[in-house]
Amino acid sequence: MEVKIVEVGLRDGLQNEAVILPTDAKKILVKKLIAAGVRDIEVTSFVHPKWVPQLADAEQLASELPSNAAVVYRALVPNRQGLARALETKVDEFAVFMSASEAHNRKNINKSIAETYPVLEEVTKLAKQQGKKVRGYVSTVFGCPYEGDVDISQVAKICERLFAMGVYEISLGDTIGVATPNDVKKVLKALLSQFPAETLAGHFHDTRGTGLVNAYVALELGITTLDTSFGGMGGCPYAPGAAGNLATEDLVYTLERMGVKTGIDLERLCDVSLTAQRILGKALPSKVLKSYVGS
Ligand code: HMG
Ligand code: MG
Repeated sequence: MEVKIVEVGLRDGLQNEAVILPTDAKKILVKKLIAAGVRDIEVTSFVHPKWVPQLADAEQLASELPSNAAVVYRALVPNRQGLARALETKVDEFAVFMSASEAHNRKNINKSIAETYPVLEEVTKLAKQQGKKVRGYVSTVFGCPYEGDVDISQVAKICERLFAMGVYEISLGDTIGVATPNDVKKVLKALLSQFPAETLAGHFHDTRGTGLVNAYVALELGITTLDTSFGGMGGCPYAPGAAGNLATEDLVYTLERMGVKTGIDLERLCDVSLTAQRILGKALPSKVLKSYVGS
């Protein structure tokens, strides 16, 4: 059995970091990720630089990525303007994003859910016309920092709309890391009755330490694409209390010891996070990284 890990550290991880990394430092991290065997790398977002200053170098970074046919470079695009910027770069695949709750959607992308659909529909259509694959993200699937519980039927409705637009996969975001295994089972079972497992991915933030167990539950239900960030960096700047993603090291360690292949070399991956720690000047939360450093 194999699991596809989508490495989101350079995007989701860095967007929440106060220290702005120079583009050259990001390029070093990309090279080290590739050396560790990571093949799906979300490198940046083509959002407004005022909203996410850490990713203001999106064009430069995404234009100077090492060419490697085995690697899929990914980036977030919120609208037509973001897509136009991204299309000038080496990014292979795009992701559109929205939330299952009105309040988070508005805080994050300044639109109601209804106003968001036509924007994402246009982006998806134009990207596909350029031969690009488009992933969809749905945030706040398991809870919203402003509205609390979110209805599964609302999540399902948004997924239907995104698939109808032409996204090939939807990553289900536990944006603020509130989900427990029971929540994951409930939501996934409902969604899996409508959508095939290979079209869904899990994106678990580890705010309360449930990221790994939630990923495991998703895997048991047939989900084989999981988003993680090296060192466990991450968070959404427009979701108060959102902490890092499940750490790539923690998932790779667990899966490989279970006999599930990830294609990622754990030692080399830890080397990426150690480099990031040095640049950021702080310890990253991954537990496996800590044990590696201490060993
Ligand atoms: P807006 O202010 O509503 O945009 O922002 P607008 O269309 O009204 O335009 C206002 C100005 O922004 C104009 O410039 C546009 O040109 C410019 P002006 O005429 O005033 O000089 N503009 C842009 N500039 C550069 N790139 C663009 C762009 N679009 C407009 N793409 C917008 C709307 C979506 C741009 C803004 O709200 C934004 O950038 N939001 C990004 C928020 C974000 O990045 N959040 C984090 C990512 S999502 C996440 O982390 C969750 C996830 O990980 C899953 C999970 O965990 O749940 C994916
Ligand atoms: Mg996220």
